[in-house]
Amino acid sequence: MVQAKAWILTKHFDGFPKESNFQLKVEELPEPKDGEVLLEALFLSVDPYMRPFSRVRMKEGDVMIGTQVAKVIQSKNAEFPAGVHVVGRSGWRSHTISDGSGLIPIMPDWPRDVSLSLALGIIGMPGLTALYGIEEVLGLKAGETLLVNAAAGAVGSVVGQIAKIKGCKVVGSAGSDAKVAFLKELGFDEAFNYKTVASWEEALRKAAPEGYNCFFENVGGPFSSVALSQMKDFGRIAVCGSISTYNDTQPQTGPFPHMTMIFKQLKMEGFMQSRWEKKHPESLRRLMGWLKEGKLQNREHITKGFENMPAAFMGMLQGENTGKAIVAV
Ligand SMILES: NC(=O)c1ccc[n+]([C@@H]2O[C@H](COP(=O)([O-])OP(=O)(O)OC[C@H]3O[C@@H](n4cnc5c(N)ncnc54)[C@H](OP(=O)(O)O)[C@@H]3O)[C@@H](O)[C@H]2O)c1
Repeated sequence: MVQAKAWILTKHFDGFPKESNFQLKVEELPEPKDGEVLLEALFLSVDPYMRPFSRVRMKEGDVMIGTQVAKVIQSKNAEFPAGVHVVGRSGWRSHTISDGSGLIPIMPDWPRDVSLSLALGIIGMPGLTALYGIEEVLGLKAGETLLVNAAAGAVGSVVGQIAKIKGCKVVGSAGSDAKVAFLKELGFDEAFNYKTVASWEEALRKAAPEGYNCFFENVGGPFSSVALSQMKDFGRIAVCGSISTYNDTQPQTGPFPHMTMIFKQLKMEGFMQSRWEKKHPESLRRLMGWLKEGKLQNREHITKGFENMPAAFMGMLQGENTGKAIVAV
């Protein structure tokens, strides 16, 4: 018997999440049966998608959705012997009984000097999102200029670095001066604090007077319209996320810049990284290769303690994180 903790969504979010939306539940788990394993979470991910997905994928009373890196601590499943590490979609749980379905073993040659938490970040879903957005959606080419917003976050910081690997000029926007300094450390050519510049239009024009070939869109809302007005003709836009709208109580109905889209003949495509799931193993190996070669730098914002999951989630939505927001148990 093991004592397991889980965070429950007690009430659907209305606007920005509050402590009162969550409740910590403790329960005894039985021994795993034949074919099952007992998982112990080591690192849990808090991600922006949890906010919009909670409405469509969860009922009140469900355990919060989410991904974790876990260790198999008891096994009656030959595929996952005790001691191996996996990435699992077990939600916000400290311990989980699983029949093995959906568990992804950590790649066998994972380097000893790389924390397993990166399997939730740069060598995981956010890193894959950055890679596919750039290669599959934008088709970014050397010499082009790329704009990315939420640039100091899990996805954005990898987007900028991959674009530099590909020989592009990279401009990023982020919500603090410390984040802007971090982007410069990563090799971004230009970066600005979208909360303090006098005008987004001016900041974007100053950073790239030539205009933008590609825009990796993470934020949505009014910033997008301004960014679109700074695109070059035939510019491409990868719509990855819309974090500025996730806590809205009413859907935004602001004017869509149709005339900009038409006159500049822009191409815009929304995407989810899961579309290229078959490529994940090879793509993760490429990301790990770049990391080990020093071409990608990693930053994490680690919150300690399973009891702090809601605080870590709310903090990430408010921009407390630089790099990937992770909870270490
Ligand atoms: N399509 C896909 O498959 C996929 C996969 C993963 C993620 N995503 C999307 O990619 C985006 C980034 O995700 P992530 O995991 O990398 O998160 P993240 O950037 O690590 O964390 C979220 C960041 O969003 C910024 N933010 C919050 N409210 C904002 C606002 N009103 N305006 C501008 N920025 C705001 C904050 O940074 P600042 O301090 O800079 O404001 C915060 O740190 C999200 O929109 C997410 O939904 C999509």
